Amino acid sequence: MKDYEALSKKHFDGQAAEYDQRDTYYYSQNGKISCRDIAEQIRALPYESLLDVGCGTGFLIDLLTRQKAARYFGLDLSDEMIHVAQEKAIPGASFTVGSADHLPYPDESFDIVTCSQSFHHYPYPEQAMLEAKRVLKPGGLYILSDTGIGGLGAWIDNHILFKLARSGDCRTTNRQGIEKLMTNTGFTVTDSRQIKGMIYTVTGRK
Ligand SMILES: C[S@@+](CC[C@H](N)C(=O)[O-])C[C@H]1O[C@@H](n2cnc3c(N)ncnc32)[C@H](O)[C@@H]1O
Repeated sequence: MKDYEALSKKHFDGQAAEYDQRDTYYYSQNGKISCRDIAEQIRALPYESLLDVGCGTGFLIDLLTRQKAARYFGLDLSDEMIHVAQEKAIPGASFTVGSADHLPYPDESFDIVTCSQSFHHYPYPEQAMLEAKRVLKPGGLYILSDTGIGGLGAWIDNHILFKLARSGDCRTTNRQGIEKLMTNTGFTVTDSRQIKGMIYTVTGRK
């Protein structure tokens, strides 16, 4: 495991037991907003297999299984988060410990890849995006929801606040930054919206 992954793992292993209960900004509040937005956006879409990268305690997959029968896969760096997700025994879902930077799945495995409030923990965002693209089937959707700002605020977050929070090697990116990254990694951006405050969701098609 790389150093930045070990830092994130330590941070989220420590949060796992109370993650679903603590409804604060630094815990799961933004995650729930993002997960509900993603679930709403894909409610009417046809798909058979979906991977949620940085799935945490499985909140999004739990929502989605109530919406549609499909094969659901959750992956997270934190084995404690994965343990909480597995304990929920969500029908049709399987959870795996792993990193967004090297996904343990063959090429062209999924119709949809989602990522909720996890992408800012990836210090090599291009690598994580290329991995999502690799495991998507041609025409598949990558739906990324996160919290982020640009300009001076981003500099303060990236260089001061995230360091104080000791939550891993984080990088905040605003919606326009994600659109650019998706375009640069070969996705076609099909939807981009600000959901609430600094929280946004961007969708790219492979
Ligand atoms: C803020 S939580 C969000 C969890 C969930 N997706 C949600 O929206 O509530 C961020 C999650 O990303 C995971 N994570 C951080 N870095 C990761 C990486 N490189 N690969 C996979 N998961 C990672 C953390 O372990 C944590 O569970």
